[in-house]
Amino acid sequence: MVIMMINKTNDYQEAAAYIAARINRKIQTGIILGSGLGPLAEHIREAAVIPYADIPHFPLSTAPGHKGNLICGLLDETPVLAMQGRFHYYEGYTMRQVTFPVRVMRLLGLRNLLVSNAAGGINPDFRVGDLMLIRDHINLMPNPLIGPNDEDFGPRFPDMTRAYDRDFLHLAHEIAAREGIPLKEGVYLGLTGPSYETPAEYAFFGRGGADAVGMSTVPEVIAARHAGLRVFGISVITNEAHHFADDFVNDANEVLRAANAAAEKMTLLFTRLIQQIQA
Ligand code: HPA
Repeated sequence: MVIMMINKTNDYQEAAAYIAARINRKIQTGIILGSGLGPLAEHIREAAVIPYADIPHFPLSTAPGHKGNLICGLLDETPVLAMQGRFHYYEGYTMRQVTFPVRVMRLLGLRNLLVSNAAGGINPDFRVGDLMLIRDHINLMPNPLIGPNDEDFGPRFPDMTRAYDRDFLHLAHEIAAREGIPLKEGVYLGLTGPSYETPAEYAFFGRGGADAVGMSTVPEVIAARHAGLRVFGISVITNEAHHFADDFVNDANEVLRAANAAAEKMTLLFTRLIQQIQA
């Protein structure tokens, strides 16, 4: 596979060249297998599995339940490049590290980025297990583009209106209706974590326009939009951050369990969407 030519050799290019040498098909779509999408990896056929540890300059995954591989292969008949394990800011990575794989995807010539995450449902209509298409985000994390701008990727002041591709949203709604998968849609608010929010914070963010809150996704989406990739994202609602009872607590194991329970419908939706994006 040929990587995009850029006039200087740098970390991104070295990583891309290493990956390009190990994949033998043209790939348009990258997937970050966040919470709820782990099982999608098992559906990728004829896969080249590239451990992050082998890729020059690639960060390594530390979060529980997150593996560290790039998986390149066919999802049904569509070539995909999937990240099994992502990098969270709360783990101590820099924003450059968090967004590194997205820029490498761009150098590999990918055009679409699909992401999933687990999120706390602030919208009072949301229940554990719901899927929320991300229509927009609110960024309360450090912006990953802070620092000298790399013009090879994109402009100094990139547009963030319609960061989540309208055609993809429309397609996802159509597919979900056809497959009988109920969907919500809303605004994802990204925070650093790792502590969960207080009830007062959830209420505050809700009044500010957030429907769901989580600790990932926004940095990768900003880097992807900067580099001109089309983006699609889904949150699995893993906890109800509204109507607080006196015994309400957030429990990370419960969050993981809820995300895994949604895996089947998420996997189906992503698989169909990827087919249609490239049809
Ligand atoms: N807050 C932040 N991140 C999360 C939550 C939450 O309530 N649930 C799952 N990820």
